[in-house]
Amino acid sequence: MLALYKHVSSSFLCRYSPSPGPLRRFVGILSSTMIQFPALFILLGLLLLANSAAVDRTSEEGEAAILDPNQECTPYNYATVTNQMNSFPQVWESASILSDDAAAFAKWSSISANIPTNIPQKTQPPPSSYSASDPDCWWTYGQCTTPKLADLPPDVAAASEPSTLGYGFDDGPNCSHNAFYDFLQGQNQKATFYFIGSNVADFPLEAQRALTDGHEICAHTWSHPYMTTFASEDMQMIKLVVGVTPTCWRPPYGDVDDRVRAIAHALGLQTIMWEYDTADASVDGKTITDQTVVDNYDSFIQKASSGAFNSTGAILLTHELNNFTMSEAVNFYPQLKNVFQHLVPVGVSLNKTQPYVESNYSLPTFEQYISGTLTGSRGSPNSTTALPSSTSTSLRPPSTSTANSAESSASKNSASSLVKTGYNQILLSASFAAICFHFFGTVDFLMI
Ligand SMILES: *[C@@H]1O[C@H](CO)[C@@H](O)[C@H](O)[C@H]1NC(C)=O
Ligand SMILES: *[C@@H]1O[C@H](CO)[C@@H](O)[C@H](O)[C@H]1NC(C)=O
Ligand SMILES: *[C@@H]1O[C@H](CO)[C@@H](O)[C@H](O)[C@H]1NC(C)=O
Ligand SMILES: *[C@@H]1O[C@H](CO)[C@@H](O)[C@H](O)[C@H]1NC(C)=O
Ligand SMILES: *[C@@H]1O[C@H](CO)[C@@H](O)[C@H](O)[C@H]1NC(C)=O
Ligand SMILES: *[C@@H]1O[C@H](CO)[C@@H](O)[C@H](O)[C@H]1NC(C)=O
Ligand SMILES: [Zn+2]
Repeated sequence: MLALYKHVSSSFLCRYSPSPGPLRRFVGILSSTMIQFPALFILLGLLLLANSAAVDRTSEEGEAAILDPNQECTPYNYATVTNQMNSFPQVWESASILSDDAAAFAKWSSISANIPTNIPQKTQPPPSSYSASDPDCWWTYGQCTTPKLADLPPDVAAASEPSTLGYGFDDGPNCSHNAFYDFLQGQNQKATFYFIGSNVADFPLEAQRALTDGHEICAHTWSHPYMTTFASEDMQMIKLVVGVTPTCWRPPYGDVDDRVRAIAHALGLQTIMWEYDTADASVDGKTITDQTVVDNYDSFIQKASSGAFNSTGAILLTHELNNFTMSEAVNFYPQLKNVFQHLVPVGVSLNKTQPYVESNYSLPTFEQYISGTLTGSRGSPNSTTALPSSTSTSLRPPSTSTANSAESSASKNSASSLVKTGYNQILLSASFAAICFHFFGTVDFLMI
């Protein structure tokens, strides 16, 4: 279905219109039938009305109103993305620097002095030859989150505030997430969402909803590779679709070492990890079952209620991946609320009031959030004015269609600058091309 999306052309879907001749004939038949069976047509009209009310697939607001998960997961066309797709890698394929992107190559050389060359690329799983002293602070090897390389900040693996859960979900946007986002909205709860660029490309209106609802967005790579193609093109895609550039990222599978951290750091990305894992995305029916996930939630909740997070909070790995992961999030929400004093987006737990490169979106401080100011400001580029309604659950712009057309005309006027906005992220993928090569054993054009 994801692949199919790329081939659904709007012109095919929308521009077909019958020539006047047959159309007149059709109208003629139609009106004579209408005279004979009026009730049928009233019914038909009502059905059409009900249906058209449910299928606005052109705006964030319309998409957010869809209640049927199957309908929400049906591919749709979004011109802003379609028109820019040639500046991005194929969805779910490794990201690379486009060969004609001189700015990206220039950025790469500007940061490459900061990237250690003595930290070798890795294989998956860690080989027995890797030193037990874990010289590279390789998380996959030993869950290391405090870099050994000088000048790198530690990963964020816990919420530092007492009895606080840094609440967030990986792998979105899921196409059928409305029930889950509606739930969060009903609870007045904000979270951090780690979006995969390919999902953002496929479901842009779902991605927009996260920002509209006041959640925090971090990057989670373009195509979710092991050991990172690190495709920050996902951030370009987030910028293109949602209008913001994240400054935080979470490595898929947690697969990060000091070399990867150095690149992320040089590009202004804070690395967000976790210490506890529900394994909700790993259910395989064998070693990990639904019950395993329930048990993991239970033992985490048990730990919290025994006071383990009384002085330093926690981050728990959970996913927006599918109906099961989101349903468990809903099921366990009351208990998490019960055992933690505060459930807040990770950025809020860090007092990170400027979560994006763009200065016109802010997050509240931790203190503000826990006293009821759940969302920050949003305004003109340099504005710091807070929104009047501090507990507003939605930042939905007054007119989504205006926002969209502004967005698409912006992208039309500056296709290349949009690409450049995120060019630094592309560099990341390039850096890891060799790793992909290693992992997948396929020839990859990403090598630099
Ligand atoms: C943790 O905090 C709770 C609530 O303040 C308290 O009842 C409990 O005794 C504390 N537990 C520990 C181990 O400090
Ligand atoms: C979203 O969740 C649905 C329901 O579990 C699943 O069928 C679908 O594959 C998921 N899609 C994406 C893009 O995550
Ligand atoms: C899971 O799927 C069911 C059936 O489609 C739906 O009613 C429910 O809202 C979904 N739950 C979540 C959290 O998405
Ligand atoms: C956040 O700010 C509050 C005061 O406003 C402070 O007490 C707290 O330590 C800060 N937390 C972090 C993680 O910086
Ligand atoms: C934020 O600023 C950017 C330019 O940096 C602009 O494109 C965008 O429309 C602004 N968003 C809002 C909500 O004002
Ligand atoms: C916003 O601030 C930047 C740097 O502080 C400045 O260059 C820019 O002109 C300002 N933009 C507006 C719209 O005030
Ligand atoms: Zn993931």
